[in-house]
Amino acid sequence: MKLRIFDSEQQAAVTCAAHIAAAVRAKPSLVLGLPTGRTPLNVYRELVALSARGELDVSRGCTFNLDEFYGLPPEDAGSFRSYMERHFFQRVNLPRERIHFLDGSAPDAEAECARYDAELAAAGGLDLVLLGIGGNGHVAFNEPGDSLLAPCHRVKLGRETRLANAGLFGDDASRVPMEALTLGMGAILQARQVVLLAFGASKAEAVAAMVNGPVTPRCPASFLQLHRDVEVWVDREAGRLV
Ligand code: GLP
Repeated sequence: MKLRIFDSEQQAAVTCAAHIAAAVRAKPSLVLGLPTGRTPLNVYRELVALSARGELDVSRGCTFNLDEFYGLPPEDAGSFRSYMERHFFQRVNLPRERIHFLDGSAPDAEAECARYDAELAAAGGLDLVLLGIGGNGHVAFNEPGDSLLAPCHRVKLGRETRLANAGLFGDDASRVPMEALTLGMGAILQARQVVLLAFGASKAEAVAAMVNGPVTPRCPASFLQLHRDVEVWVDREAGRLV
């Protein structure tokens, strides 16, 4: 893992957006894995700015989002799909048919997960995946537990994770769905490159456990230690315990 500590979140976001833009220039058909949450917001803002200046062209790229709440239709304002529409998809030249997303309203969760894994495999897997990290060490919605699952799967969200996502639901944690669909650790670990961002003091313990702790399903992000090309980009607060 290559750890880089930035002076500010904004500096990390600008660097990350430039890194993604360079990857798209090198391979216009780049398969990009994308997260939601507060962490990547500035990256999306920077990517949109690059696109507006003609410095990012994603017309031949394709994206797979990491996860989605289960039981929510894509058009629900709280869904990750809506978040991505607001902050990225509607602001760049990514063709609709190149956007891949788990459908939180699919009646059969297992079939939906199998469809998504098959679509990702057909696209050749992720070239570059951008990740955040939960305060409990989760990546995407792979929550800490006794074991981890490699394929895309349905997951029960922990209390801490539902609280952390309350912002999408008017700060009312009781409105956060109880379940989600998520890419498994398999697709994430098979990505050709991983860039994980973490900002703020609330992420310091999870970052330290990910970088220096044992590889354990109790901290799903610790499995990234097994990957050969992981950039961990943090601000001073998130890097405080490393
Ligand atoms: C959410 C998402 C993750 C995200 C993480 C951190 O639950 N499923 O993909 O990385 O939690 O969120 P935030 O960036 O808001 O701290």
